[in-house]
Amino acid sequence: MPQQTSSPLPAATAVVLVAAGSGQRLGRGIPKARVLCAGRTLLEHALDGILAARVAVSVVVVLPADDAVLTAVVDRLAAGAGGTRVSSVVGGGTRTASVRAGLAAVPESAAVVLVHDAARALTPPGVFRRVAAAVAAGAEAVVPVLPVVDTVKIVTGTVVTSTPDRTTLRAVQTPQGFATASLRAAHLAVPATSDAVTDDAMLMEARGADVHVVDGDALAFKVTAPLDLLVAEAVLAQRDAPGSAPLPT
Ligand code: CTP
Ligand code: MG
Repeated sequence: MPQQTSSPLPAATAVVLVAAGSGQRLGRGIPKARVLCAGRTLLEHALDGILAARVAVSVVVVLPADDAVLTAVVDRLAAGAGGTRVSSVVGGGTRTASVRAGLAAVPESAAVVLVHDAARALTPPGVFRRVAAAVAAGAEAVVPVLPVVDTVKIVTGTVVTSTPDRTTLRAVQTPQGFATASLRAAHLAVPATSDAVTDDAMLMEARGADVHVVDGDALAFKVTAPLDLLVAEAVLAQRDAPGSAPLPT
């Protein structure tokens, strides 16, 4: 009898990969998803992780308008994606608008959807599997988290007003996973122009849903500023060096 190495995911899962941002803080003058890291675009690295996880029947990539380079990247990776359908749509002026454009292209048959930032380009496949499995097992919303290592202060103006108990704080990453119908409904409740919505789990919390946590991974860090890109280059140099061991994270 063939050995089963991982339990099958019962629910059809789609991934919305948001890559339509302009990358202002990276300061390269081109969309962040198009920036090269170890010779490949951040979008290619992000799609590699999703396809390696083998959780998705459909991946909807949300791109800046009229981006021939990124459209070609998606088309090329789509051709080698095996049983996963990879398509692209054009995003909007806020992350929320871009997620919404992606959600609209998620097939009705996908009961589970993962929303992922292309900027978290080195997210290991295991994070996608953990999040997808937790939603498939019945959670309405799931986020990958890490402990917070800094002491965090609440500040009003220039004065510290309090210090939350660090043991209760978590830093939240993507992919975030949801029952697709619930996330569609949650998005209907906010204007797509809102900059205050920094992740999708917030919308579920506002609806009173329980948002569950699973372990994140340090390698799922977001490439935001130039220093993050240096770190990503170093990670890839180490990962791709002959005979190198996996990075402990
Ligand atoms: N994003 C998007 N559409 C937008 C804004 C952001 O699809 N209108 C995506 C980005 O491409 C990124 C993710 O949301 O993968 C997280 O956003 P962020 O890291 O802030 O990326 P940018 O908005 O591109 O960067 P910046 O805020 O520095 O301009
Ligand atoms: Mg942004």
